[in-house]
Amino acid sequence: MVDVGHTVLFSADQIKDRVAGLAAEIRRGYPADTTLHLVAVLKGGFVFLADLARVLDCPVTIDFVAVSSYGAATRSTGPVRLRQDLHLPVRDRDVLIVEDIIDTGETLAWILEHLRAGGPRSLRTVAFLDKPSRRTLDIQADYVGFTIPDRFVVGYGLDHDERLRNLPYVAVLEPSDVTPTGETMTNTAPELSDPTS
Ligand code: PRP
Repeated sequence: MVDVGHTVLFSADQIKDRVAGLAAEIRRGYPADTTLHLVAVLKGGFVFLADLARVLDCPVTIDFVAVSSYGAATRSTGPVRLRQDLHLPVRDRDVLIVEDIIDTGETLAWILEHLRAGGPRSLRTVAFLDKPSRRTLDIQADYVGFTIPDRFVVGYGLDHDERLRNLPYVAVLEPSDVTPTGETMTNTAPELSDPTS
């Protein structure tokens, strides 16, 4: 296991407890006979989806949508691009969008509009992490796992340059883990020096 965790923000045990709590909260918000249609936002949402789906005490169906809002510079700006559309229609389903993190809110806003056009019976959102200080749109998730400060976080689905998504915890990428490029620790991902050494 790669260890970049000089600062573990949320341990695997903390995450497990919070996801169970979220699942109970979500379940209470729907009628007893509800089948939830979970739509995970790839790629980051795959870990959270897998854990949430297994502790939700109701039938679920699952689909994925892949979008990208980060360009080559890995900065969270610019238009959202659809990379992979849904496989199942959302019409008359109780849809729950499953996000790993809300930052500017641009991705969630785009996906909400995209899915709403499909005519779901209900449409709600759950975000494992929320970084409200970075918001450029007035938008929030119906359910939030943890609210975090403006730090660059990795693990539990969140990547740096496509790596570290498999960390079972959430860690802050520390300045000591990056080259001195002068980038700030916001949503701008600096270069890793070598997290495996
Ligand atoms: C990340 C994250 C969210 C989005 C949040 O995805 O998974 O979907 O950014 O940012 P926003 O609120 O500023 O729109 P990213 O585009 O990095 O793709 P990935 O999940 O494949 O890593």
